[in-house]
This record gives sequence, C-alpha cells and structure tokens, in this order.
Amino acid sequence: MTPGTPFTEIGSERRFGPYGGRYVPETLLPALDELERTWATLREDAGFQAELGTLLRDFVGRPSPLYLARRISERVGREVYLKREDLNHTGAHKINNAIGQCLIAKHMGKPRVIAETGAGQHGVATATAAALLDLECVIYMGVEDMRRQMPNVQRMRLLGTTVQPVESGARTLKEAVSQAFRDWVATVEDTHYVMGTAAGAAPFPSIVRDLQRIIGDEARAQILDAAGRLPDRVVACVGGGSNAIGIFTAFLDDPDVALLGVEPGGHGIETGAHGAVLAGGLEAGVLHGAMTPVMQDDRGQILEAHSISAGLDYPAVGPQHAWLRDTGRATYVPVGDADALRAFRTVSRLEGIIPALESSHALHHVLHVPAPDVEIEIVCLSGRGDKDMEHALAGLRELEGDDALAHTVAEPLGHDPVADQDGDGPQDGAEIR
Ligand SMILES: Cc1ncc(COP(=O)(O)O)c(C=O)c1O
Repeated sequence: MTPGTPFTEIGSERRFGPYGGRYVPETLLPALDELERTWATLREDAGFQAELGTLLRDFVGRPSPLYLARRISERVGREVYLKREDLNHTGAHKINNAIGQCLIAKHMGKPRVIAETGAGQHGVATATAAALLDLECVIYMGVEDMRRQMPNVQRMRLLGTTVQPVESGARTLKEAVSQAFRDWVATVEDTHYVMGTAAGAAPFPSIVRDLQRIIGDEARAQILDAAGRLPDRVVACVGGGSNAIGIFTAFLDDPDVALLGVEPGGHGIETGAHGAVLAGGLEAGVLHGAMTPVMQDDRGQILEAHSISAGLDYPAVGPQHAWLRDTGRATYVPVGDADALRAFRTVSRLEGIIPALESSHALHHVLHVPAPDVEIEIVCLSGRGDKDMEHALAGLRELEGDDALAHTVAEPLGHDPVADQDGDGPQDGAEIR
C-alpha cells in the first residue's frame, strides 16, 4: 500500500500495514464478522445511504459550515478555515458515527446498543441516536470523566440512557472501553457495540472512518468553493483518531495537502503523563482488540494516558493513523495541557467560538507554531467547549491565578511550544479585547 492510497474496500481492510487486526475473545468473532458483512452491504445500499443522509441533514444539521476565521487568520498571517463540527446537533463530530452505527444496529435487528465515552460527547451522541431510533442504550463512563463532564452525564440520563460508572484503574476512557467490551461479550446476540473512535478491532476503524469521512468530503468541496483551490494543510486533534481520519480521508490522494494530527502532550512527553502515542514514538501493542502504538510498560502492561481533555485521554490510537505516520503521509505533534487551555481562551476571545478542549490542542498548534509553507489551511473544530467550561476555567485559574479571565490576559504572539516547554504562560502577549 502506498502512503497516498486510501483503504476503501471494507472487508479486505482488517489491517493498515502492520497495525489493526482482531485480538478479541472468540465469542466476539461472529459479531465482528456479521458487522463487517452488514456494513459491506449497507455501505453500497442506496436506501440505507438515503436514510442516513436525511438524518444527517435534518437531524444533525449537515453540512457543517466551513468558516474563515478572520481574526485567527490575521494573527497568524494565513487563511485559517474552521470546519464547524461544533455546530452539529449534540455539539461534536461524534454524532456522525453514532447515528450511522445505531442505524446499522437497527438493520442487524439488534434492539440494544452500548458504548464507552470519555468526554461524554460520544455518550451523548449515542444516547441521542438511541432515543431517535428507539434503541435501549447503556453507556460506560469512568467516574473521573463523569466528574469532569457532569453536564453530559445529565444529558445522557435525560435522553433515557443508563450511564454505568466505571471505577477501575484511572477511571477514564480506557477502563470504560474495557467494561463495554465485557458487556458485549455477554450480550452480543442482541447488542451492538457503538465504538466511538476509529480504533478497536476490525472492522471498527474502517466503519468509523467511513462514517466520519463526511467531514473531509464536505470540507474539500467547501474549500474549493471558497478559496478556489485545495488547502496546503489540514489539521485535527487526535484522541482515538475519528475526527482526524474523518477529515484526512478526503485529502489522502492529494499529495500537496499536508495532514497534521495533534495529540495530547499532557504534562510533556518526557514526564510520561500524556497521550501522544504517535508523536512520542511509542511501540505497538494490543489494546481493545487492535495492534497499534500504545502506552505500555516494559512488560506490555497498558499505562494510563493523561490529558486535560477527557476526549483525548486514551493510551492508544486508531491503527490507520499509525500507518499514515509510518508511511509519511501524515505527521503527528504533541500539544500540552497548559497550551490547550490557553488556546481555549484565545479562540473564544478572537472568534467568539468556545472550542472543545480537544480541538483547542489543534488550535494551539495553528496559533503558535510558524508554518511558512502554509497559505491556506483547514482546522477541524471537532466540538464546542460548553461541556468543558468548569474544568477548563479551573485549569486556567490553576495556571494563572484568579486573573486568568481578566481581559488583558493573552498568549504571546509567536509563542513556540517546542522552545517553551515549561508553558510558563503569557509574557509579552498582545492584549485581546
Ligand atoms: C470534541 C471532541 N473532539 C475530539 C475528540 C477525540 O476523539 P477522536 O480522536 O475520535 O476524534 C473527542 C472525544 O470525545 C471530542 O469529544
């Protein structure tokens, strides 16, 4: 496979180079086979696609706009377009996949869906799709994430979903996925597992990619319309990798379009408290049914990831991203907690858009790392930041004290996170009004 070749044949796509595969209990293999077969049919089925397309348009609100962010553009000296997934119903890209997979469950005759959630966005999206399509729904969520994302927990409950707290380990996304898998092993006959990101055992990485590629397909057409040409670069944050693979896929065969994934640098890669498995050059191991770079100790035990944003707090990454990195088609860089928090504030003030903390990682890179070869770029604004308010404001206060929201506080122009690893905050920043 060449770097620019998208992997389009579902069913022949269980691996991406050496990554991916199916490392699952035998009881799940028939369900994965059934899912793979079903998707191979539904993917080409005009009736299914029309049903999905109508829901994405009328229920989700697609197409999402591609917005020229004028003040960010002025600040960095190039055209920065935001792909506004934050404007989708439920506030993030996760709904594209959740509706698609819940429709697949319906077509498989499964009345119950389960899912894991970190930031709560995928949980809310799945709970929403389950309500819409009249499916029973159980969401597994680490109690640490429940604490960080209480409004989303309340939303899920209001939508009629059972939120199952997960107490084990670091009580975040990894444990939630493990619990959801355990449920699935026992209930596979009548339950579909709605995987929330482009990770896990095949065929999940391909299905999630196929359901999210609408982001890039739309963005590609929109930028041709708005700018008259393709962008020089497409940027997205990477947790498990679904919004990134969703926007990258449409550009894989455009060699002049650079693809940049931004991973959670947490407290810094050297501290071990991060989730930047690709930028950190971590070795492959097995997590959640797939062979992929993963945070592990020297005995292969999975380590906890760390990120200020719950949605990026995952110790592995989708296998296709690992292959895109190895083949050189995409590049991955880390952005740390402190920088993401400051970008959260900067973008709110520059554009009147409160970005998700996850997306803020990508936005920090765009705002602060010089990109002399880029004149036009698209950033995937994967979600809105309302869910993060309390947690992010507490984080900013911890960094900068009670003045963190004073209107004169700003990030310095041209602040280079690579040169300024200690994240020591605003020094000579231009005032943002
Ligand atoms: C708004 C938002 N962006 C990004 C992510 C990261 O997920 P992924 O890498 O699958 O896009 C999440 C995960 O919950 C999210 O809620």
